[in-house]
Amino acid sequence: MNKKIILEETDIPQFFYNIQADLPFELEPPLNPGTKKALEPKELEAIFPKEIIKQEISKERFIEIPEEIFNAYRIYRPTPLVRAERLEKALKTNCKIYFKNESVSPVGSHKLNTAIAQVYYNKKEGTKFLTTETGAGQWGCALSFACNIFNLGCKVYMVKCSYEQKPFRKSVMKMFGAEVIASPSEKTNSGRNILKENPNCPGSLGIAISEAVEEAVKSKNTKYALGSVLNHVLLHQTIIGQEAIKQLDKAGEKVDTIIGCVGGGSNFAGLCFPFLKDKLTGNGKYKDILAIAVEPESCPSLTKGRYEYDFGDTAGLTPLIKMYTLGSSFIPPAIHAAGLRYHGMSPLISKLCEKGYIQARAYKQSEVFEASLLFARTEGIIPAVESSHAIKAAIEEAKKNNGKTIVFNLSGHGFLDLSSYEAYMEGKLKDIPVTYKDLEKSLNKIPKI
Ligand SMILES: Cc1ncc(COP(=O)(O)O)c(C=O)c1O
Repeated sequence: MNKKIILEETDIPQFFYNIQADLPFELEPPLNPGTKKALEPKELEAIFPKEIIKQEISKERFIEIPEEIFNAYRIYRPTPLVRAERLEKALKTNCKIYFKNESVSPVGSHKLNTAIAQVYYNKKEGTKFLTTETGAGQWGCALSFACNIFNLGCKVYMVKCSYEQKPFRKSVMKMFGAEVIASPSEKTNSGRNILKENPNCPGSLGIAISEAVEEAVKSKNTKYALGSVLNHVLLHQTIIGQEAIKQLDKAGEKVDTIIGCVGGGSNFAGLCFPFLKDKLTGNGKYKDILAIAVEPESCPSLTKGRYEYDFGDTAGLTPLIKMYTLGSSFIPPAIHAAGLRYHGMSPLISKLCEKGYIQARAYKQSEVFEASLLFARTEGIIPAVESSHAIKAAIEEAKKNNGKTIVFNLSGHGFLDLSSYEAYMEGKLKDIPVTYKDLEKSLNKIPKI
């Protein structure tokens, strides 16, 4: 038995899988924040190129991957599927645990899968400059590098508490030529308004999105790129699950449980959607698969949020989208899994969860770090704190000792999370669970539609 299941470059998927083709229900459309009417695709042209907008609403099952994107994927794809034998042994489980190792991408996470695609489609339509937000910095690093591949300028609004907790991500983005600004900033109206109310605001993804969108709308030849949440982002990530299916077939394995952490939902979707195709259509070998989405107790959108129309950002500049949300004014505690500090959840994942096709669960920061350390000590890889949420769930599933086969997505590595690991080992990390009482204010501010 091989520990690593490796594919050839010719096995890199040639199509993105679009789950919208197989949904047995309709997704509620995004709404114009002013009129509250269904958004016309044209209205998105101020921030996205036409091809991306087309993908956002497409019902075509397979969308061909252009040669330029395929060639860029060859830098690091296919990624290995790895059997976590040593972790299994440490747990004394009779379950098999595999992980899809997206941390081998040169920027350290799955985010490059969509960054390459988004920059390519922008380039093709004449965009010269992209703005974006970043939480942990993984997405900012991915977009900065992808902008190098296709020769575009890049400006990243980085959530202030991560800017301070993870200074080296900033260095990586700068090495790739991007400008990095701590958010909230004085550069935009959205940032200035927040700072007026709370000069010590730690920032949030919602605020950084407002700043990046505002700048894209106001600037010439500039568009905005988002690292998660929207349908086209999740679509680009489906190359992960397509490869995993091939790898499991190659190893003669059939998986029972698939697991991913969720911030806005892109790595979870990337691994799980190609498997969920069978569950949605009721046909095929994965029709009974269990998919588990894992979030932090400090930002529990799927487990404590409401399924409502809400803004994707804090300033209310984005369309209203139907999703599980904690309220767009919610500023999550400054936990170390910064990439999971988002008030909402992808509309696709929200709906799949609401309809019972996927399960959600939340863990405390301390139990997630404990899982990280066990994984690092057994498999030798230091995981991104975000990915460790998936590791924790995989461990819990394996402890059931029911002989199942589990695959989780190792969405990134944690080499730049070392200050967080140091704080954990010194006993300095606190659990900051969020209660319904804490959420009351922001939940009550969700617009009534
Ligand atoms: C390594 C890693 N995993 C997961 C996430 C969460 O994002 P998503 O839910 O879109 O995968 C992030 C976000 O920054 C990340 O950096």
